[in-house]
Amino acid sequence: MIKSAYTVTAALPYANGPLHLGHIAGVYLPADIFVRFLRMNKHDVVYICGSDEHGAAITLRAKKEGITPQEIVDKYHTLIRDTFSQFNISFDIYHRTSSQLHHETSADFFKKLHDNNQFIEESSEQYFDEDFQQFLADRYITGTCPKCSYANAYGDQCEKCGSDLSPTDLINPISTLSGKSPILKTTAHWYLPMNQHEDWLRDWIQKGELNGELQHDPKAWKNQVIGQCMSWINGGLKPRAMTRDLDWGVKVPLTNADGKVLYVWLDAPIGYISATKQWALDNNKNWKDYWGNTEGKDRKLVHFIGKDNIVFHAIIFPILLKNHGDFILPDNVPAYEFLNLEGDKFSTSRNWAVWLHEYLEAYPTKVDELKYVLTAIAPENKDSEFTWKEFQSRINNELAAIYGNFVNRTLVLTQKYYEGIIPAPNKFSAEDLLVLKELQEIPERISKNIYEYKLREAQAEMMNLARLGNKYLADQEPWKVIKIDEERVKTILYIALQITAALSVASFPFIPDTSKKLQKMLNFSSENWTDLLQKEVLQVGNKIGEVEILFPKIEDDLVENEVAKLQNTKN
Ligand code: 2FM
Ligand code: ZN
Repeated sequence: MIKSAYTVTAALPYANGPLHLGHIAGVYLPADIFVRFLRMNKHDVVYICGSDEHGAAITLRAKKEGITPQEIVDKYHTLIRDTFSQFNISFDIYHRTSSQLHHETSADFFKKLHDNNQFIEESSEQYFDEDFQQFLADRYITGTCPKCSYANAYGDQCEKCGSDLSPTDLINPISTLSGKSPILKTTAHWYLPMNQHEDWLRDWIQKGELNGELQHDPKAWKNQVIGQCMSWINGGLKPRAMTRDLDWGVKVPLTNADGKVLYVWLDAPIGYISATKQWALDNNKNWKDYWGNTEGKDRKLVHFIGKDNIVFHAIIFPILLKNHGDFILPDNVPAYEFLNLEGDKFSTSRNWAVWLHEYLEAYPTKVDELKYVLTAIAPENKDSEFTWKEFQSRINNELAAIYGNFVNRTLVLTQKYYEGIIPAPNKFSAEDLLVLKELQEIPERISKNIYEYKLREAQAEMMNLARLGNKYLADQEPWKVIKIDEERVKTILYIALQITAALSVASFPFIPDTSKKLQKMLNFSSENWTDLLQKEVLQVGNKIGEVEILFPKIEDDLVENEVAKLQNTKN
């Protein structure tokens, strides 16, 4: 069987502010777990990300901070890149869309589609701010939503009811630059006639078929993703402008296009391709192998995103990729719902957030603890919530009391009874054989869950390994048996040590630093999933190293301080 190769992307964050826990829980961490697992299973995989540095998100932030867009993206690109690195997210490359390579790649992409007549050039009247001499696209204009009457809807979307809007749909439009009512002025743009793509999109999304051939298993896609796409398509897709009148972005590569740039949602996903190109250049690879179906490889493209990005990754980008012709379409678009914080939505403007760089500064040794908690509560199929109280209880009652406690008891007893040498077992009892069977089955369940993008369940199964070990020790009571049957204790600790080693391997995708720390304690090293299928993971006669506490308890004052800090810094 051909082992699938994967190109995994995580949504490019806008370089207009720091990362908060909501971003991490719903995109970067699940993608990281998935990729680490694939690498352990020897899939050919590349994990791509970078900063999204164009669009109104950037220019509006620059205006707010009173600095240039370039200064904004430099500042936040550096902060975001360093934060990811400290949080040990294992991108193969963290690129940026302001790079020359990206400008060339996205301009060439546009040009090819343009030359193949896949855009429609059309003039229309659009809102224009006379004071600022600027057209007002997307977030440059606000007004009342025609669908739900929300007063502060944006020109591209109403955040209240989720409707997709055009600036001219807004009632009482106001320029966010001058605060005045805009005038209408004629301007030409290139539109993607999305309405012409409804039929094949239906088949591709609902049946997984393209040109009558099965491309992916539609049952593997989340219901919410298919549901959102079908409601867009059934509502009728409209032509969408792929260019904007702005001076910040990738210049439209045509002679009659002065003052026009590519729509940020055209250039940003192409950022995945330019990032792959840069990574390939740096690593002596051929980038095309990662975006096409090369011989002998079944290549899967997977986009990890938040639910607000579904239409761009499951409708617009696939249209662009298919129109271009040189690319595979996504095999899956695992979109996450939103994470809330202490009973409310994360909000940058109200400063209702836990910023990851601040967390890392305060708790540099608690990276894996946060990863574990965020995966346990990940908004996989519905919105979920982070609270500091749950942070504490998940760490104390699960990581420390189950994982840490089992490891500690096993290793301390091995030191005490055998000076750290892994004992040879005697004959296995019926209970031993049941535990050994379970030890083989749990990794299979973890594996199945990860391939199905069920990472919460996968992590819960990983903890079941520790639970299995804890229960085994509690049932067998080696600390009592040692007084009456020394030989039996060798078998008990041999099995407990095998479980510990399996735990160190199986937890690598979720809590990689802990996995490595535990392997150091065991004097063993493996990032190979197939090691879990071996009858014996740790070898008899090897000597384990020093024992350390893996997860110190979280005290109540940490919770109290963090909750107070949130309330005090709220805007
Ligand atoms: O929603 C966002 O934060 C966007 N910057 C995501 C872009 S994903 C991709 F298309 F680049
Ligand atoms: Zn609305």
